[in-house]
Amino acid sequence: MTLPSLSLVDSDPAELAVDAIVIGLHSQPDQGGALLPAAGAESIAAAFDGKLTSTLALLGATGAPGEVTKLATLGTISAPLIVAVGLGDEPSGSAPDRETLRRGTGAAVRALAGSPAVALALPLPDDEDAPTVLRAVLEGALLGSYRFAGYKTKPQKGRRDPVAALQISIADAGDEAATAELRRAEVVARSVRLARDWVNMPPNELRPANLADLVTAAATEVGLEVEVLDFEQLKAGGYGGIVAVGQGSEAPPRLVKLTYTPEGVAEPKRVALVGKGITFDTGGVSIKPAAGMWEMKSDMAGAAAVAAALLAIAQLKPGVAVSGYLAIAENMPSGSAYRPGDVITMFNGKRVEVFNTDAEGRMVLGDAMARACADGTDYLFEASTLTGGQVISLGKRISGLMGSDEATALVETAGATVGEPAWRMPLPDDVRKGMESEIADICQTNANLDRAGHMLQGGVFLREFVSEGVEWAHIDIAGPSYHTGEATGYWTKGGTGVPIRTLLQIVDDLA
Ligand code: BES
Ligand code: ZN
Ligand code: MN
Repeated sequence: MTLPSLSLVDSDPAELAVDAIVIGLHSQPDQGGALLPAAGAESIAAAFDGKLTSTLALLGATGAPGEVTKLATLGTISAPLIVAVGLGDEPSGSAPDRETLRRGTGAAVRALAGSPAVALALPLPDDEDAPTVLRAVLEGALLGSYRFAGYKTKPQKGRRDPVAALQISIADAGDEAATAELRRAEVVARSVRLARDWVNMPPNELRPANLADLVTAAATEVGLEVEVLDFEQLKAGGYGGIVAVGQGSEAPPRLVKLTYTPEGVAEPKRVALVGKGITFDTGGVSIKPAAGMWEMKSDMAGAAAVAAALLAIAQLKPGVAVSGYLAIAENMPSGSAYRPGDVITMFNGKRVEVFNTDAEGRMVLGDAMARACADGTDYLFEASTLTGGQVISLGKRISGLMGSDEATALVETAGATVGEPAWRMPLPDDVRKGMESEIADICQTNANLDRAGHMLQGGVFLREFVSEGVEWAHIDIAGPSYHTGEATGYWTKGGTGVPIRTLLQIVDDLA
């Protein structure tokens, strides 16, 4: 599926020859909730002779964030259809909250599936906020129009195609900063889309070698340096964690390294991104219950996000050196699978006593993180669908975040900016004590299999694989990387692309 095409227009939105036009709608709490058309919709409101908001109110509109109200225009303006999207209370500043705008635009564009050409007449301020507000609108529109192609053998009746062309109404269509945002949005959206596709693919179609091949092909196309270690090389290289998890499957594991080197920067900051790439997590010998196990096809969302971030970085060319490490394996029970009780020597030499083969993410990540540190890096950001505990404690929208002060602050700030919130959690000494092994350096989980605070056990374990002096953060995306409910905002069912835009924002912030 292709992205909608993007263009900027600065003619009167009331006269645009499109199939539908999107406007914003505020409520005014100090006016008894009366509706107010958002900035950008002035000429359209004027064409309705003062009856636009009363008509929308009649149709049930309240201006609540994300609410979508459709109105036939019956010749008042050129477009036959208006979609009014709620943007919440009238903003105090020049622009509404970015995430409200991002979600609202996503909801509107989703509601317009079936309309080939759509214009957005949304509040885009004309001040220093302009680029980031435009960015939010573009991200909402492009991410919201995503649809997984799927595997149906016959086209579905009544299924409406996503919007094909988007015109963005703006004060000056020749504005260079705005044009740059359009190009950036296309690069980001294309990368996010690939990651979502990979997450949504069924696990029989995406086994470790398939994922490594897809990433290699996409990375080569954008000029990234690619290194792929196969099973033999992983064994020879001392990647005990990846080998242990991968050895139970007929489809052997891979470690993929992607490298972006900026041009003309003397001593660039070095950033390593590490992603968990379990193409399917049965739990292994410590097998998971059948209900919901299928969802573990998304257990490679961290690796997909890291790959997507590098694909975008290769095209956006920031002045930071960025490497991506994808730890890819399939966690299966079999005669060759690793067992509870095994002691595994990891890439950095530490010995781990295995208690639960379902805690496989930290085994593959420990190796990949140690390798990233061995290659040399200033920062290490690792993303993984690591624990069900993340979902229990923070839910489906807020990622768990652990690590050192500077790196976690970077993730918090970037996540808040792009609408991918992450909440910092502690790495308590008590939790580390509970992971003391009788016979090895550390247990992989709590030695009594006590699940209390088990999201923290993941972070505490992974800390053992970060070298002294490296700023590091672990982002547990178990909930936020995969959306199971009905579509909402710019999220459709399935892979969400979290935390790709956070990683891109961090790299921008460091550049
Ligand atoms: N991939 C799972 C975590 C997960 C759960 C991701 C739900 C997405 C949604 C991970 O490998 C796992 O099985 N974790 C265990 C850890 C435990 C054995 C210490 C868990 O969360 O129960
Ligand atoms: Zn897993
Ligand atoms: Mn698991």
